[in-house]
Amino acid sequence: MHNIDLVRMLELPERGDERGNLVIAEAGSDIPFDIKRVFYIYGSDRDVIRGCHANRVSEFVLINVAGSSKVKVLDGEGNEIIYSLNRPKTGIYLPSMVWKEMYDFSEDSVLLCLASTHYDESEYVRDIEEYKKIVRESAK
Ligand code: TYD
Repeated sequence: MHNIDLVRMLELPERGDERGNLVIAEAGSDIPFDIKRVFYIYGSDRDVIRGCHANRVSEFVLINVAGSSKVKVLDGEGNEIIYSLNRPKTGIYLPSMVWKEMYDFSEDSVLLCLASTHYDESEYVRDIEEYKKIVRESAK
């Protein structure tokens, strides 16, 4: 099985009332890992492509808490899936070892990223040929 099969959209619980909306992202239930790190991306132009990496260890959930963007996920074997993020209560779960690219950011996009690890550059694979090689070798 390839980890791309584990990619899925998550519908986060919303507790709205007359005062407004409240979306919950609780580790272990709504988010399928313990959250060690939070970062967010905003101010990226529409023609910018971010990501372009796979992570050997980290899992992520990405949520456009404002605006919209797209996430392309590649398996390194020729398959790709494009997801649209455009609602504050909808996230995408990205397991380790999938190639991801974020793009088509709206002007008001704020992309919240929840991660299962502390930042460690050494677990990033930033060269797609190296990623494909790792995928090929792990399939043997
Ligand atoms: P980068 O991984 O290139 O961002 P993206 O995946 O959106 O393209 O990260 C940009 C810079 O920020 C890079 O120098 C690494 C640094 N960085 C951290 O120091 N900690 C973090 O948690 C993240 C995600 C990035």
